[in-house]
Amino acid sequence: MKSIKHIDVSNKKVLVRVDFNVPLTKTQKIKDDFRIKAHLNTIKYLKEKNAKIILISHLGDPKKRDENFSLNPVASRLESLLSSKVKFVEEVNSKRVEELVENLKQGDVLLLENLRFYKGEKENSEEFASSIAEFADIFVQDAFSVCHRNHASIASLPKFLNSYTGLLLEKEINAIERAIKETQKPFVVLIGGAKIETKTAVLKNFLKKADAVLLGGEIANTILKCKGIYGDKKVEDKDILNALKGINFNHPKLIVPIDGVLYKKEYTRIAGIETIKEEEEVGDIGPETINYYKRIIKKARTIIWNGPLGKSEEEVFSKGTEEIANAIVNQKAYSVIGGGETIDFVNRKDIKGFSFISGGGGAMLDYISGKTLPGLEALNKKYEEN
Ligand code: 3PG
Repeated sequence: MKSIKHIDVSNKKVLVRVDFNVPLTKTQKIKDDFRIKAHLNTIKYLKEKNAKIILISHLGDPKKRDENFSLNPVASRLESLLSSKVKFVEEVNSKRVEELVENLKQGDVLLLENLRFYKGEKENSEEFASSIAEFADIFVQDAFSVCHRNHASIASLPKFLNSYTGLLLEKEINAIERAIKETQKPFVVLIGGAKIETKTAVLKNFLKKADAVLLGGEIANTILKCKGIYGDKKVEDKDILNALKGINFNHPKLIVPIDGVLYKKEYTRIAGIETIKEEEEVGDIGPETINYYKRIIKKARTIIWNGPLGKSEEEVFSKGTEEIANAIVNQKAYSVIGGGETIDFVNRKDIKGFSFISGGGGAMLDYISGKTLPGLEALNKKYEEN
């Protein structure tokens, strides 16, 4: 891979893949702009070097055009963060985009609409990738947090343009490489949150590398179901079952909650997971689990954390995640945390002191666990070709 710092971008049309997948309120207000701010260094660098900047991103996971997932609000926020005009266009590969790109002046910034409004993006269509590449001279990959996806703007775009790494991507990889190369033991991994298939798939690797893997949230519930502790509920989703293949649910390093905040519509109660009733769910880890996890964290020298340990967007279920986040920052360890929900949570609760906060959730877990990331593989291939 080669950095943008090693090329002349002046007067070039530079297509930059960013990750502006920010959390939005129901009325499309940006809840947390961490991910936009994270790309500012790259964007400012390109502006200073007189590039013509075209930004592409996804937001959420819409299956087709859906105004609730438009990147328009992001353009306005980026404009105020940069204190300079950001143009926005509701398309990605039309005549209009071509005209707007042709009219860009040095240092101008144009943001294209959500890539996932087009099915070619998630289908990793080369045709779709080349229809965007057409407008540009150079491609810059700055979205480490999406590099685990086999999508057109990640895995295929580098086939059509000379491609380079952006400053954020480099920073992410350097910090995560440090966690890998200088891992001090005990090495503790905490995994919670949504997107279970992405996470269960890396569990096997972590059970080999880490000293303990602590689970919370949906992934813990899934493993508890597999262990037969979660009442009579079973895992039925085929993709999840596939991702779970080969995992020893009774592995001594695989640590699951002992108790939880159990709930149904009318009430919440704190109790052992094995007492869960048919109509109840687990909303958070319970006090015994919090103490158990804290004891493990207290010994750790390297900590990786992705995903809240419960339904932390609801205050009543946020205690577990908050206590564990505080335990991590109070521990003298190299701590890397990442993922949209995790960042949103620690920012909301104003918890500071992690060694590094990565924009990547699934991407960070995949990279640390040793999986190949399609986005990085595509950049490497392009680099070897040149
Ligand atoms: C993330 O939120 O981790 C990245 O933006 C990737 O999003 P995705 O999981 O919807 O592909």
